[in-house]
Amino acid sequence: MNDLFDRLRELLLDAGYTIDGVRERLGEVAATALSREETVPALRATRDGDPLGTLIRLWWLGVPVDAPEGLPVAELAAAGLVTSDGGRVVSTVHLQPWETGGYVVSDRKVRPGDPALRPDHVVGAGGASANLAQLVTRRPVERALDLGTGCGVQVLHLAGRAREIVATDVNPRALELARIGWALSGIRDVDAREGSLFEPVAGERFDLVVSNPPFVISPAGRFTYRESGFEADGFCRDLVRQAPRFLAPGGTCQLLANWLHVRGEDWRDRVGGWLTGTGCDGWVVQRDVQDPAEYVELWLRDAAEQGTARYRELYDGWLGWLESMDVTGIGFGWITLHDSGTLDPVVRVEELGQRVELPVGGYVDEVLGSIAAAHRLPGAELPGVRLALAEGVLEERVGPPGAEDPSRITLRQTRGLRRTARVGTVEAALAGVCDGDYPLGPLLAAIAELTGEDADDLLAKAPEAIRPLVAEGFFHISTG
Ligand SMILES: C[S@@+](CC[C@H](N)C(=O)[O-])C[C@H]1O[C@@H](n2cnc3c(N)ncnc32)[C@H](O)[C@@H]1O
Repeated sequence: MNDLFDRLRELLLDAGYTIDGVRERLGEVAATALSREETVPALRATRDGDPLGTLIRLWWLGVPVDAPEGLPVAELAAAGLVTSDGGRVVSTVHLQPWETGGYVVSDRKVRPGDPALRPDHVVGAGGASANLAQLVTRRPVERALDLGTGCGVQVLHLAGRAREIVATDVNPRALELARIGWALSGIRDVDAREGSLFEPVAGERFDLVVSNPPFVISPAGRFTYRESGFEADGFCRDLVRQAPRFLAPGGTCQLLANWLHVRGEDWRDRVGGWLTGTGCDGWVVQRDVQDPAEYVELWLRDAAEQGTARYRELYDGWLGWLESMDVTGIGFGWITLHDSGTLDPVVRVEELGQRVELPVGGYVDEVLGSIAAAHRLPGAELPGVRLALAEGVLEERVGPPGAEDPSRITLRQTRGLRRTARVGTVEAALAGVCDGDYPLGPLLAAIAELTGEDADDLLAKAPEAIRPLVAEGFFHISTG
């Protein structure tokens, strides 16, 4: 079978069926419309019957085509990827190039008016897949686990960074399609295993666990690709709570998650509570919150159920179920756990609404390091610590024209998470002089002299003022 996929890959590459090739062939307008799942402009752009246009129609747009020259139709039909009625060929799957250079194979995309999804529908790579991929650490690892691999897209990103990859899914059909995608991408030796949560890897340890899990919070587990059948947000909670048992020392677990906002409960306590007691350092980021109605609409649309006869009934039932739990919203975000081996773990839970530098995976280890370093920095040792201002931090001063002192000073990161912090004159002065050469004690003493403040007072306040700026990556502790 691998020989068939090697030949198919060659044919796809020769025809230019790549991310860039498709975009160029479709043109800006049709390609952008396709990224919004609107196919009409792409169908219009590919009417000529040229080889690349035909492959786009066959594999991406899902319409019948005249068999392209060289396509091994009989073999592909035997492998279950196409059906053919003599001259015309229709694909039974969605096969698209991916940003890593490989290919992703999934069930055909559902569009409004399509028949209802099968319960074991295998969803293709999309926005959430790309979000997780950009979040995952770029650090090379020995063993990686992709839990809930689906169409196998995370493996495409892990290949080359992990020496050994195990990919699991509860849906055997997902593993079947993922294997085809990996073969087409030239990725061999993925250890694919069927089973729920960590069941297939009992007793094993990984340096990296990634998961874009079935996080959708719904009253019934109707579709395996997005709903686990666990109660409410229980799947993500259990994944987080169990993950540390499967992490090797120094290992990291990164996942996307949804969580409930329940009346009378702070969401930070809810999700933070999933991580306490794991023994790992943790970082939870809420990127978005939707109200219950928006949430239900999003997922009914996702399964192309808008406009169907059952739409109102499903909407009503889902909303009523959320109401019965006093749900006021649903949070979307990232969770990262790091087995740092400490006896004093720290969990940071925060909201980040701003655009951040991508990929976060390029600096996520640094973010975790800053959070941990700030937490474990003994206040008494602070005067001896040398701090360095992080690269790309700018200072903004705002005040009435002509005023001697600004009414507001802000430090702004132009890199990484692009955080901002409102600071006082002392921290601003420190930002101006901290280059890692001098310990904080003498620097604060010099600043006290300049500003007329009491040096002991400044030193006493330093832990409270400086620690958050270290945790948020404005200052690094200099070890040089
Ligand atoms: C949102 S898809 C993620 C697919 C892919 N990893 C990605 O990043 O796009 C979630 C996957 O989790 C799988 N899944 C559902 N329930 C599961 C369970 N109990 N244990 C493991 N995987 C599960 C689904 O079959 C589906 O393939």
